[in-house]
Amino acid sequence: MITTKLSIAEAQYFLPLTAPAAPVEKAYQELVSKTGKGNDFLGWLDLPETVSTDLIAEINSTAKSLAATAEVIVVVGIGGSYLGARAVIEALQHPFKALLPHNKTPLVLFAGNSMGEDYHKGLMDLLDIKDYAVIVISKSGTTTEPAIAFRILKEHCEKKYGKLEAQKRIVAITDEKKGALKKLATEENYRTFVIPDDVGGRYSVLTPVGLLPIACAGFNIEKLIAGAKKMRNHLLQHPHLSENIAMQYAHTRFLLYKEDKKLELVVAYEPQLFFFIEWFKQLFGESDGKAGKGIFPAGAVFSTDLHSLGQYIQEGERHLFETVLSVEKVASHLPIPFDHNDLDGLNYLQQKSMHEINLTAEEGTRLAHLAGEVPNIRIVIPEISEEILGELIYFFEFSCALGGYLLNINPFDQPGVEAYKSNMFRLLGKK
Ligand code: PA5
Repeated sequence: MITTKLSIAEAQYFLPLTAPAAPVEKAYQELVSKTGKGNDFLGWLDLPETVSTDLIAEINSTAKSLAATAEVIVVVGIGGSYLGARAVIEALQHPFKALLPHNKTPLVLFAGNSMGEDYHKGLMDLLDIKDYAVIVISKSGTTTEPAIAFRILKEHCEKKYGKLEAQKRIVAITDEKKGALKKLATEENYRTFVIPDDVGGRYSVLTPVGLLPIACAGFNIEKLIAGAKKMRNHLLQHPHLSENIAMQYAHTRFLLYKEDKKLELVVAYEPQLFFFIEWFKQLFGESDGKAGKGIFPAGAVFSTDLHSLGQYIQEGERHLFETVLSVEKVASHLPIPFDHNDLDGLNYLQQKSMHEINLTAEEGTRLAHLAGEVPNIRIVIPEISEEILGELIYFFEFSCALGGYLLNINPFDQPGVEAYKSNMFRLLGKK
């Protein structure tokens, strides 16, 4: 199970020593009793228990049937309808899967999360020569970016395979009743999965939104859900700050925020967690950034970014704190070989694995950043697996909701996202 090493003692170096537990325990009660703001969007709280075995079986069998005819599966979606699946898939899959011959499972690629024309044309070039299927995801069914990408993909798929076969290769995940995508899916007779009404986009990774793409990539969604269930049990069984890791995390972030630490840099030392951090940024950014409040969620991969952002973190403006996703055990072992000439002077590292050196870099960085007055929160992850990712997803969702309640805002809406859309529609002359 993941643990939080909040470096509270170290964090408290920057904080009043006796911060009362009451606000976070009140936020917790509001959340678990479902009496807080946005309580019609709390379906995610119970998802690990409510996802039925029938639904899981249907997702797994759909993934299997798509994989039978597709080398590539294109997942069309943006924001919460995209990032959770990508976070889990990229964390677990071989980093060079795209270039490996004889993959047992399809390569999952993504579209409709930008309006990059070159990107999408490049994807179409690839789809000219690869067999593929499409999973189109939109809760509202009206989001412009995925809708444009899907229109292009649908036309391509129908031209390549014919209308009837294209219909078999397209799966839609959307609202049960409303939205343009729902209408289209019904008319075209696409296989369809439902996004529950009471689960918002960025909390939807444990619905078919995340589960189907993850199953298509060959990963075990039962284990992912089991991990989330384990974390849910832990959090619901511990109503006090002293023993509840999500409360501890939310509490520490809130105290740091009140001490003018307005930017949280989430850091991983394993590059495959890059998209997990992207998912985190979206979850916390859209949930907490409201009413002139909220911690700005940023991300970095170390040691890579120590050679770009490191200088700023060590000596720049003191408005940030770090949350490190610290991975205890990695899947591979790559020892540093002995070299007779030792021209690079690395023989002292002989027999150490790259991961051991990476962990030492992590500890050295933590000490340096603490000395530079950057509070450090550590979330210790025993390994990167489906189960642990399930725990992490639920942990962050729960912590995020608590954080929103501590700020006295609704963590489940996103009114600010409409501003760019209405300008864009006006400039495009939409009626
Ligand atoms: O978290 C959210 O609600 C948003 O990020 C949405 O997921 C995103 O805007 C995509 O919306 P939709 O699924 O309606 O296309």
